[in-house]
Amino acid sequence: MIERGQYLVKIAGCNDCHTAGYLVAEGDIPVSDWLKGDIMGWRGPWGTTYGANLRIYMQSLSEAQWVADARTLVRRPPMAWFNLNAMNEDDLKAIYHFVRSLGDPGEPAPSALAPGVEPPPPFATFP
Ligand code: HEC
Repeated sequence: MIERGQYLVKIAGCNDCHTAGYLVAEGDIPVSDWLKGDIMGWRGPWGTTYGANLRIYMQSLSEAQWVADARTLVRRPPMAWFNLNAMNEDDLKAIYHFVRSLGDPGEPAPSALAPGVEPPPPFATFP
């Protein structure tokens, strides 16, 4: 189940935004550093958002809570919450067990900033 969760996280692209440096390193980031969140901001009409630290996020949830949460959560761009909502229960459970198997959760990602607030670099701007 843990192996399947790792595979799903990789192919569903969760690392692209939830693992620091992942895209620029072309995915060459050790699993031990995956999903600790990122300080890279995504700025647009919604303000500036940050890929959350998913290790910390899942620590406070039971498996059943995560499944229910992932099915209904709505977040700001560029989080494709509507895709996560559509994931089947077995896949969500596998992701949960993989994320929970990762070690030291590290630090939380920065809090989102309101629209119009100038974020510190690095950030990407959406028109
Ligand atoms: C294109 C970038 C991107 C990708 C890909 C992405 N996320 Fe996100 N995700 C974000 C951002 C940014 C936020 C914060 C949104 C906000 O603050 O409203 C977020 C928020 C979340 C949250 C809520 C965290 C919280 O503290 O509320 C969860 C859970 C989550 N993502 C899970 C996933 C999973 C699982 C995947 C892979 C299937 C994934 N994300 C893929 C960017 C992304």
